[in-house]
Amino acid sequence: MKALVEHLATGGKLNTGELGELLQAATTDGALLQLLRNTAVRTARQQFGFGVYIRGLIELSSYCRRDCLYCGLRRSNRTAERYRLTADEVMECCKEGYALGFRTFVLQGGEDGTHTDKWLETLISRMRSQYPDVAITLSLGERSEESYRRLYEAGANRYLLRHEAADSTLYASLHPDSPSIEHRLRCIEALKRCGYQVGMGMMIGVKGQTINHIAQDLQLIAQYECEMVGIGPFLPHQATPLGGEPAGELNTTLAAVAIARIMLPHALIPSTTALATLTPTGRCEGILSGANVVMPNLSPQDVRAKYAIYENKASWGKEAAEGLAALEQELATIGYHIDYSRGDHKMYNTKE
Ligand code: 5AD
Repeated sequence: MKALVEHLATGGKLNTGELGELLQAATTDGALLQLLRNTAVRTARQQFGFGVYIRGLIELSSYCRRDCLYCGLRRSNRTAERYRLTADEVMECCKEGYALGFRTFVLQGGEDGTHTDKWLETLISRMRSQYPDVAITLSLGERSEESYRRLYEAGANRYLLRHEAADSTLYASLHPDSPSIEHRLRCIEALKRCGYQVGMGMMIGVKGQTINHIAQDLQLIAQYECEMVGIGPFLPHQATPLGGEPAGELNTTLAAVAIARIMLPHALIPSTTALATLTPTGRCEGILSGANVVMPNLSPQDVRAKYAIYENKASWGKEAAEGLAALEQELATIGYHIDYSRGDHKMYNTKE
């Protein structure tokens, strides 16, 4: 197994079977997991030093037309409190975030049908003209290529669209009313054609997922050479069909993050909010597995609890934009610091 890690670390490729074996072994063999994580950390440090980029997360809307089995915002969850930010509220978040030092804003939301291209275009243009030096990231689900292009032209730079599951059967079982993994990948390809820096990723430990599925996910991520990779543990939400399922495992998540880092040395990889929610040390553990981004919550404080994709989602303290001092302190305990620059992918030519 050590030879497989060495092979990966020197730029070699593993087949999906080998990736699965490595993941499996790392979840039971503590020394191997440590080797994998140390290798990933070394790789990340060569690219980013001890800096961790921050992204201000603005949760645009909790309305969603989809019915994904795992997500608390699914359409069938009648108990979910729905809200939609106004453009002025978003601009207020940006103002606060910019003053705090954020140079990336992430507009994330459910697939809210009222978010027309026109409305989003106007909002993105306002953000772009008011804050010419920030990166604007979108995370708004599946849209048409035409729509992705218009939003890019309006000033967006990055797009997060986790592929969720490379295996078509698993994908279909989790997303009863979404088209298919093939369609999702067409969206990802369209985003690339438009010029976005694109993020993919998946949860670890969701119902029906095997180690081999995770190996397939990692293989797909490497194959697409995406600029960003989001990997976090599945966390149950009581008001969903998966409410009674156990949360994803910490070690498997850390192993997957580490492998993603080793396979894509330049990628921007968050230590996810889900990881920080799973366990108090999660954020640092993610960074000590090769992650180099944290995404504090910049949404208006009165809506944060309503954006519950899973329960007890961390959105305060170190996961809150106003808690940067606490985050800085926590990072310092492991020798890291916040890097306040935009943090684009190395291969990306920033627009003027
Ligand atoms: N647990 C963990 N992650 C979740 N996501 C959605 N629901 C959950 C959950 N219950 C993830 C999905 C989605 C991202 C925004 O959050 O992967 O793409």
